[in-house]
Formats: sequence, C-alpha cells, structure tokens
Amino acid sequence: MYFALPKEYRESSIESLRERVIEAKRKLCNRLCILVHHYQRLEVVEFADHIGDSYGLSKIAAGKKDADIIVFCGVHFMAESADILTGDHQNVYLPNPLAGCPMADMAEMADVLAAWESLQPYGGVEKIMPISYMNTAAGLKAFTGRNGGLICTSSNAASALRWALERREKAFFFPDQHLGYNTGIKFGLKPEEMVIWDFTRDDGGLTAEQIERARVILWKGHCHVHTNFTAEQIHEVRANYPGVKVVVHPECPPEVVQLADASGSTSFIVKFCAEAPSGSIIAIGTEINLINRMAHVHPDKKIFELSGMTCPVCANMYRTTLNDLAYTLERFEDIKPIRVNEPIRSEARLALDKMLEIA
Ligand code: 13P
Ligand code: SF4
Repeated sequence: MYFALPKEYRESSIESLRERVIEAKRKLCNRLCILVHHYQRLEVVEFADHIGDSYGLSKIAAGKKDADIIVFCGVHFMAESADILTGDHQNVYLPNPLAGCPMADMAEMADVLAAWESLQPYGGVEKIMPISYMNTAAGLKAFTGRNGGLICTSSNAASALRWALERREKAFFFPDQHLGYNTGIKFGLKPEEMVIWDFTRDDGGLTAEQIERARVILWKGHCHVHTNFTAEQIHEVRANYPGVKVVVHPECPPEVVQLADASGSTSFIVKFCAEAPSGSIIAIGTEINLINRMAHVHPDKKIFELSGMTCPVCANMYRTTLNDLAYTLERFEDIKPIRVNEPIRSEARLALDKMLEIA
C-alpha cells in the first residue's frame, strides 16, 4: 500500500497542527471520538478522548453509539475490531493506514486453515477451541467465531483460556506463543502440556503423541519488540538498583515474565506506575513510548526501560503522527474508513462478543 500525506499536512508546524486538531475537535464535537492506544506518541495522546489497552479501547468502541466518526490511533487490527464492534452508522478511521502489526502478520489465513485441517484427527471442533489474540486480522477472528472460539487480549487471556478449557479438551492459541505460554503457566498448566505449532513444518513439527498430550497448542508467533527483553537484563537491573520493581508485558518471553515482579497489559502497567508510592524505582519491559510517558507523568518516581540498550519502539504504532491526525480530522470525508464486510464481520463479531461477555 502507498500512502502519502498531502504536502500541506507534511510541512505544517507542530503549533499549527495542534491548532487545527483543536479546531476540528471543536467543530465535530460529539460526532467525534478519538481512541488512542498507550503506545502512541505523546503529541497524539494529548488529543485522546479515551486512552487505553486493546481490550479497553474495543470495549469503549462497542459502547460508543453516539459518535459517527471514530478515529483509532493505533494499529490496523485494532481499528478493524472497532469497526466490527460499532454500528453501520459509524465509520472508523486509522490515521496512518500503514500502521500494521508484524506479529499479527505471522498468522496467515492459509497457514491457520492448514493447521486446523491437520488438527482434525485430534478432535477438531469437538475437542479443540480456537483462541485468537486480538492481534490478528479480521479473517482469523472470523475463523475463530465460526468454530465456536473467542478473542483474547493480554488483559483477559487467563479468563479466555479458562473458558476454552472448560468447554473443550484443548485450546489452539494464535499467534503469540509467549502470551499463550505465560497465560497457560499462570492458569496452572505444566510446560509439557503446551506445544508450539511451527507453521513452516508438516504437522507443526509435532509428533502425534505430543499433540495428543497437549492442552494448549501455541502458534509460533512473537512480537519483535517484546522478545528483546531478557532474564539477564532483570538480574542486572536488580543488581544496579536495589529495591527496583520490574513490570513487563506478557508478550515478553516466559523467563522474563517469571522473573518480573508483575506482568500485564499496557493498562496494567500504567496502573502499576500510578499506584507505586512516590520515590519508587520501576523498570519496564514494553514499548518505549509508553515508558517515556510514564516517566514524564510521574516525575516523583524513577521509571525507565528495562533493557537499557535496545530501544523497544513499535515502529508501526509510531507511524501515527500529529500530521496524520490533523489530516484525518479535517478530511475524513475524502478518506476510506476501515471496513470489515460480511460474512467476516458477523463471524468475527461472535468471537469478539464472547470476549466481552466473559469479562
Ligand atoms: P495491550 O492489549 O496490552 O494494549 O497490548 C497490545 C499490544 O499490541 C502489545 O504489544
Ligand atoms: Fe504488534 Fe508488537 Fe507493535 Fe504490539 S508492540 S502492535 S504486538 S508489533
């Protein structure tokens, strides 16, 4: 896809962009709702009507009936989910249409359908419950809904897994192996009850015995931002900062999540920082824009990024600029909204509604 912002927006000063956004918000008033994910730039966060994690924002989108213009400052799968959860009278706009999620792209429809076919001899839909992480394309959410499964996010993955395993013998969790594994451990599963489905190999690279024994089959996907965090970094930070609290996102590898003081969704991390007493030292393992914002809003606490050397930026979240936001608010009538069509829309909605119900 090619996307170029008109020159007028590319070359505007920050002050002029801010004024334009303020004026557009004033004009559109209740027609407009700007949803902003925690990983967005500070200059975008400033204009949020709601800021949250992927679960919280989808819940707000589902309940926001009055606004007909929903501007989602996040990545593509989030805007798609918001479109599925909103009514026909509402349009969802993604200010930078190039903002995708490389982890979501690790589960392609053809590979997931091939895996599901290979799993038929092990009970298929009778015995295996698909759980799709929110970070997936709408087509895969529809696959999940069609097969009786549900969507989860990092804030409700444990409830989703419980729901799934109360109804079927196994769960088929995609695409984030780490969130799936970390959730399974939290839920009380043993490591040997979880297997990784390598979609580049026949039968996921697993033996029949391994699949039969598994309670959770994990897709071999990961987030390149979160897999840069290591256990050594936690040891080092603890040696250098006595009393430090380490909080990480559950997309981090299992050894990192197990060593951390706490783990949870982006909203969990925000709450953790807010509730920590003044003077706390907090090392965070997640995306850098959220960490910088936490350090900025809590000057009475020492808050910093866990790795100390890599810069864990989500380049896709970072794509959305104030320039994009100003353009979207002023020219939404010329922009194609994010639209998920039938039958994918209704099938994906089944899986999303289930997620909202179990919460
Ligand atoms: P949250 O659901 O915690 O906001 O996370 C979304 C995400 O993409 C993390 O990388
Ligand atoms: Fe996707 Fe990772 Fe970016 Fe989250 S941080 S949107 S999982 S690439």
